[in-house]
Amino acid sequence: MSMRLGFFGTGYAGLVTSVGLAEVGHTVTAIDKDPDIVARLSDGTPTIHEPGLPELLIANLEAGRLRFTTQAEDAVSMSDIIFLCVGTPSRADGRADLSQVEEVARTIAPLLDDYKLIVEKSTVPARTAYWIDWTIRRLAGSECEFDVASNPEFLREGSAVRDFLQPDRIIIGADTERARSLLLDLYEPSFHCPIVMTSVTTAELIKHVANTFLASKISFINMVSDLCEELGVDVATVAKGIGLDPRIGSHFLHAGLGFGGSCLPKDLSALMKVAEDHGVDVSLLKEVERINTTRVDRLLAKVERALWVMRNKVIAVLGVAFKADTDDVRGAPSLAVVPRLHRAGAVLRVYDPAAVRNLERLYPPDDRLTYMESALEAVRDAHALVILTDWDEVRSLMRTPIIVDGRNLFEPAEMQATGFEYYSLGRGEATFRTERQRVRI
Ligand code: UGA
Repeated sequence: MSMRLGFFGTGYAGLVTSVGLAEVGHTVTAIDKDPDIVARLSDGTPTIHEPGLPELLIANLEAGRLRFTTQAEDAVSMSDIIFLCVGTPSRADGRADLSQVEEVARTIAPLLDDYKLIVEKSTVPARTAYWIDWTIRRLAGSECEFDVASNPEFLREGSAVRDFLQPDRIIIGADTERARSLLLDLYEPSFHCPIVMTSVTTAELIKHVANTFLASKISFINMVSDLCEELGVDVATVAKGIGLDPRIGSHFLHAGLGFGGSCLPKDLSALMKVAEDHGVDVSLLKEVERINTTRVDRLLAKVERALWVMRNKVIAVLGVAFKADTDDVRGAPSLAVVPRLHRAGAVLRVYDPAAVRNLERLYPPDDRLTYMESALEAVRDAHALVILTDWDEVRSLMRTPIIVDGRNLFEPAEMQATGFEYYSLGRGEATFRTERQRVRI
């Protein structure tokens, strides 16, 4: 059964989910306040770099199942279900900034005519749905009927389209039978994965806890990686050795520069605040955060120890996105590494297959900072090559004297055999200059 869906917000979650639900046959109206974004999307040009998205966007626009507008009234009156997909960035104190969520609730309230189901897709702290409900009830007519439900997304940037079309689970948090059955009708016919039915607050918490657990796993393996370095052991082999135990699992045990992006760091600090506000001790999570923030320091110390004097050393920085297959630099290590190497006097040649323009906006080029069109151009005659993102294109690069690999992309032994001076994180002693004594990094 095709349903009429409205989306507020066309960022990552909003755009991928609206395109994905159009793809499985629903009629979708997506709203963004920004007329330029609406014009671009209506024209079939995605505003984000996401594999598979351009094709689906164009196909569903052409099929007439998807349209973009700046007019909230259109989406509300023409929808059975309204999804809230606006941003919930971190405030200075680490709590989630819910002002955009409140704004949508205030916008929707006077437009409600017949029953609507309002669904949180944005990642929000537990109990946000109650505040949305309270806001709408205050501003809408007393006879208006609606429910607020939670249906968190688990999309990873870079594989969001695949994650949406082949989910490992769907979480439906609803406190009324009407809301529950509407969301079941939406998902059950098209998605064949476990569907977990919960209360609204439970669903909100599941999302925060999922991202916090993933962050904890990464900080755990990074702590182990520091120990591996001291013991002369390869952390990748340790991760393999423990990951084959299904209770542990092999994913998210990749040691390196730690977790960035717009989700894991933000959701970790937001969950800590929720827990603290309820008197729960969060020392464990503080340590997860602390380990993560020290990863960049560790990488920069290695660069300095490899190059000794930084001034006027030419360094190729490969990858500035927070992870591969995205142009997103939010929370990326490059935001710290590039300015710090620059301040240290290095001459930087920066390359990324997709995200260069986004970094360039934050750090404009100058006589010691150049954004390159290709990786080969960036590494030519460089004194060192610093890898910040796990792009496949970077994996295929060869022939550079010193590589400081913040993502452990290569095998230390192979790199040594091919003549590189290779430094990575947590994988025993570094390979070394053959003409000198063994250098321990
Ligand atoms: C994350 C979650 O994985 C998604 O399930 C969730 O839906 C999304 O946040 C969200 O809340 O919207 P994403 O931020 O796209 O997705 O990226 P991840 O793949 O989780 O990677 C996060 C960071 O951890 C990246 O910087 C990555 O390089 C790093 N990472 C990941 C590691 O350092 N080691 C690993 O083993 C895995």
